[in-house]
Amino acid sequence: MSACTATAPGKIILFGEHAVVYGQPALAVPLHELRAAAYIEPGSPGGGLTIEAADLGLRLSLAEAAAHALALTARLALERLSAGEPDARITVRSGIPVAAGLGSGAAVSAALARALGEYLGSPFEAVELSALVYEVEKVHHGTPSGIDNTVICFEMPVYFVRGREPVVFHPGQPFDLLIGDTGVASPTRKTVGAVRDAWQRAPDSYETIFAEIGSVVEAARTALERGQTARLGPLMGKNQALLRRLGVSSPELERLIEAALTAGALGAKLSGGGGGGNMIALVEPETVARVRAALIEAGARRVIHTLVR
Ligand code: MEV
Repeated sequence: MSACTATAPGKIILFGEHAVVYGQPALAVPLHELRAAAYIEPGSPGGGLTIEAADLGLRLSLAEAAAHALALTARLALERLSAGEPDARITVRSGIPVAAGLGSGAAVSAALARALGEYLGSPFEAVELSALVYEVEKVHHGTPSGIDNTVICFEMPVYFVRGREPVVFHPGQPFDLLIGDTGVASPTRKTVGAVRDAWQRAPDSYETIFAEIGSVVEAARTALERGQTARLGPLMGKNQALLRRLGVSSPELERLIEAALTAGALGAKLSGGGGGGNMIALVEPETVARVRAALIEAGARRVIHTLVR
């Protein structure tokens, strides 16, 4: 068995986060600029499998830390490959900020399982990999819809409805997004749990909001596929207003959204779980520099430019 490396991208939810947990559609794209990587190499004979995440200062062995998300990923991967525990060392690195709405947990799991599959000579198909990562997400993230593992494992833009086959969509026209990081860590589990509690207290009004978000997503899909990028801006605004009503925006997100719009972005909204984390702004090539500067000025810790195509 020879050493190998596997990677997986981060993700951006364009439209429909949170409502997607309740059966509404959502649109998401992979974020190729930020990736997680897992390097696997032979370890000492009899040493079993060890996993190191240098960025997190973490080192664990499969035998001792079965409950950890990374160990669970490895265990599920070995089960699906019908393989015993190899004497190997996996080193995981990720450039995707944690608890920022960019899918870092799912990407790290996907890279790790992919590396194990390749190392053991049975690479996972995207669909198997996605199902495996979903199992890990369920244990560690509460009630995930499945959109993160799907977009990250398929590495394609997806129109996603919980429990259905994901549909790959193709933007009719490439478009520029800036991703602004509030720097405020906000685990998805927390905001998803808060929305769930609020929904349980007032199911009718929350389901009305979810359905309205679903309509925005359908309109956005049509606009995207037709290459009508200018129509996306107002739809982002509508989606953001509905996310605000769900209670998942935050002062930091609002500040960045406002700054982006004032500087000429066509639309802006939070992306992912909210409560902190990242926002996205739709920009034109000529406004990229101005909007980026405005985001930094308004407190963004990092701004990433990506072309969605
Ligand atoms: C997280 O990226 C998106 C949420 O809708 C949660 C989920 O779909 O599992 C907030």
